[in-house]
Amino acid sequence: MSEQIERELALEFVRVTEAAALASGRLMGTGDKEGCDEAAVTAMRELLGTIDIDGTIVIGEGEMDEAPMLYIGEKVGSGRGPRVDVAIDPLEGTNVLARGLSRALSVLAVAESDCLLHAPDMYMEKLAVGPRAAGRIDLDAPIGDNLLEVADSLGKNVRDLVVVILDRPRNEALISDVRKAGARIKLIPDGDLSPAVSVAFEDSGVDVLAGIGGAPEGVLAAVALRCAGGEMQARLCPTKPEEIARAEAMGIRDVRRKLTMNDLVRGDDVLFAATGVTDGELLRGVRYSGAVARTHSLVMRGTTGTVRFIEAIHRLDKKGRAAGSWRD
Ligand code: FBP
Repeated sequence: MSEQIERELALEFVRVTEAAALASGRLMGTGDKEGCDEAAVTAMRELLGTIDIDGTIVIGEGEMDEAPMLYIGEKVGSGRGPRVDVAIDPLEGTNVLARGLSRALSVLAVAESDCLLHAPDMYMEKLAVGPRAAGRIDLDAPIGDNLLEVADSLGKNVRDLVVVILDRPRNEALISDVRKAGARIKLIPDGDLSPAVSVAFEDSGVDVLAGIGGAPEGVLAAVALRCAGGEMQARLCPTKPEEIARAEAMGIRDVRRKLTMNDLVRGDDVLFAATGVTDGELLRGVRYSGAVARTHSLVMRGTTGTVRFIEAIHRLDKKGRAAGSWRD
């Protein structure tokens, strides 16, 4: 992507995540996971179609036979602009939104072709930190050693650190080791992408994201950390032979290899956009008030490292909401 195109497109991509957030945020607390996801996917796909890119989905809603829209390999955009790979999570935290909990996001990342790890839909062990601790972590080292390094780089004590971990039985040993190391822990019921991005921002109140969550969410978080100067190390965690075969088919030869930033995201020519659907550490969720809705988004570019927080006020009565369109 040329510098100018990248700059011009940044705001366009925020419009895409805003649309998905606006469409799905209405369904907060309905208990309808599928409905929440469908609203976000439909709005995101519609808006993507208006952008001048020749895009291919590389991380999406699933394989072509599993997802009707935004599946891996689907072409998106008007087809007129630069050729790019597109990684999306129209609604990160379907369960979160359906239950009205925290940290649901709409997310999109764009990169030059073949710069993103084509992560299969399986689990991934992750360790993510912000810019000051970048270069100081090692997924192969005990978590206690990593926390000492992070604390030192942030000028804190280990007991001051906040480590976010998905509350899952598979993360129990890690949780126990973090407790032994003396750090504070935030156990979350779902949605590890939002905190993995939040660690890049020191006022977010979270310092480290650790533990096993989804691999696609890991790659999306790595794009954000690449833009913000943070670091993630990761390792795929296949649970069945089919997952190993799928990873190999997607070009990953040694499935259990430690993945560094360069394996996850190659180069700086990347862009990351996210809009809060429900409140999180970094982004506020959508607020509706009659004909007006407010969204809170973030857009970052790898080439410059600029981070923009965008608060938008949407006039729903002027957006042709009745026609189901979220264009502005
Ligand atoms: P969805 O948006 O697909 O529901 O994913 C939510 C999420 O909590 C991710 O943030 C996380 O990486 C993954 O699911 C964890 O998977 P699992 O719920 O199977 O432990």
